[in-house]
Amino acid sequence: MSTAAPKSMDAIMSLCKRRGFVYQASEIYGGINGFWDYGPLGAQLKKNLREAWWQDMIMNPAWGQKGPNGQRVKCVPVETCIIQHPKVWEASGHVGGFNDPMVDCKETKGRYRYDHVMVYVPEAGEAGDKPIFAYVGDQPSESKQKKKAEKTFGAIKSVPLSTIPQPWARVMGPDAEKPGSLTEPRMFNLMFDTITGAIRDESNKVYLRPETAQGIFVQFKNVVDTTRVRVPFGIGNTGKSFRNEVTPRNFTFRSREFEQAELEFFCHPDESVAWYKFWRDFRMDWWKSIGLAGENLILREHEKDELSHYSQGTSDVEYRFPFTSPGFGELEGIAHRGNYDLTQHQKVSGAKLEYNDTDRGEILPNGGRRGERYLPHCIEPAAGLDRGVLALLCEGYTKDESRPSPEFMKLHPRLAPIKAAIFPLVAKDGMPEIAETLHAELNAKFWRLGAVEMDEKQSIGKRYARMDEAGCPWCFTVDGETAKDQTVTARNRDTGQQTRINISKVSEFVANSIGG
Ligand code: GAP
Repeated sequence: MSTAAPKSMDAIMSLCKRRGFVYQASEIYGGINGFWDYGPLGAQLKKNLREAWWQDMIMNPAWGQKGPNGQRVKCVPVETCIIQHPKVWEASGHVGGFNDPMVDCKETKGRYRYDHVMVYVPEAGEAGDKPIFAYVGDQPSESKQKKKAEKTFGAIKSVPLSTIPQPWARVMGPDAEKPGSLTEPRMFNLMFDTITGAIRDESNKVYLRPETAQGIFVQFKNVVDTTRVRVPFGIGNTGKSFRNEVTPRNFTFRSREFEQAELEFFCHPDESVAWYKFWRDFRMDWWKSIGLAGENLILREHEKDELSHYSQGTSDVEYRFPFTSPGFGELEGIAHRGNYDLTQHQKVSGAKLEYNDTDRGEILPNGGRRGERYLPHCIEPAAGLDRGVLALLCEGYTKDESRPSPEFMKLHPRLAPIKAAIFPLVAKDGMPEIAETLHAELNAKFWRLGAVEMDEKQSIGKRYARMDEAGCPWCFTVDGETAKDQTVTARNRDTGQQTRINISKVSEFVANSIGG
């Protein structure tokens, strides 16, 4: 396991702001907690991630591999509304169940997730009448409370607040001055609500979706009835989801508005475990293929006691973010959901959602077949696009003081928002004209995938450094040799090395580097 020091989140955030990857939402008004905007580079990076997901999950699912049934995998897309009938969220269990227990501090007005609050207590024995010092990990309160607890008890240990029996009167909140300020845990619903129509009363209350998955389940029957898909097949959905997270934090990692890319793969119950393993392994391979390979990425299989009652398996693809290091944070969950969601929607809506599988079932005396009717089981790879972008930025961010451009973004060429840059070495001797022709050629070929930049300002070193920070994999420079032998230099972002290639081969060279 790597012992490399984590990268500095401050440095990553600063580059993201400086180069236009990510901005604070409503920044000129002081920002708004839990909301982030993408600048020009970030918007294109996220679009490239979304499209890579779309291509590899919907258009050419699992890169054209055959599934456990020996057939090529089939998936189709839907695009469903952010606001659905409120009963959708009753059926899914989000209304009523989508809660995090919270504790409030009456003194400081701080609010904390109950399962995040830790306390310092004496290493041996009871605290008696003395305070129990609460803190939240990676907050300033941690070291402050530790010092106070050591002064009070000498040897101390740290345990979750939830493991202390009824400690409320003696608990000293993370930033409080007096004990007893924390409330008992209370449920806090994460769903944003609003009102439809002109009459602003409870009966018109609707919710902003907290996940894209339910839009798929409620359109399952329409997709089966109106297209030629046969089980096993998947339905994909991407788009914004909203959760009123109590403690949004760690840059875009836990936001209140974020984008998901989810697939529900419907299959026969007997094949569901094989499909679960198939998607679990493919999703890990996919994240590796776009640049997260290495020891910062793991697949964590949930223990049996972590699984929902209906699930026969769940795994998380986890990335070691600088703020979770040496631990990992979830990038995507792959869950075997059984037929829980279709069962719930069938029950609450009254609509018949059973699938008539005419490839299975009883053979009739006349040689025909009576289809087998069942609610398909579902495998759900549920990815977060904002967390994906964040992982790519954290992984890509590289600092090397020995380079003329010490900070650079090692983004996979498929994802890079700028695919190539063209520089005339100097703005004379016909170089700008040759560069302009090359720029037009590359732009015509690659504009669907990202930008091709032309830059003739500043020294060549500064132009390279600018492109390195933007994650542009290749810069091509037109120089004094170009007019004579039709070659340009191709400079590699990661090594800084330059090779000469024929100008007619540049487009093919860029296409090969993007791959995909
Ligand atoms: N339908 C299943 C589902 O929504 P989830 O684990 O709650 O599962 C899936 O969410 C993915 O969505 C997560 O792995 C994460 O990447 C992303 N996600 C969830 N909450 C998020 C938040 N508050 N901010 C950013 N991304 C989030």
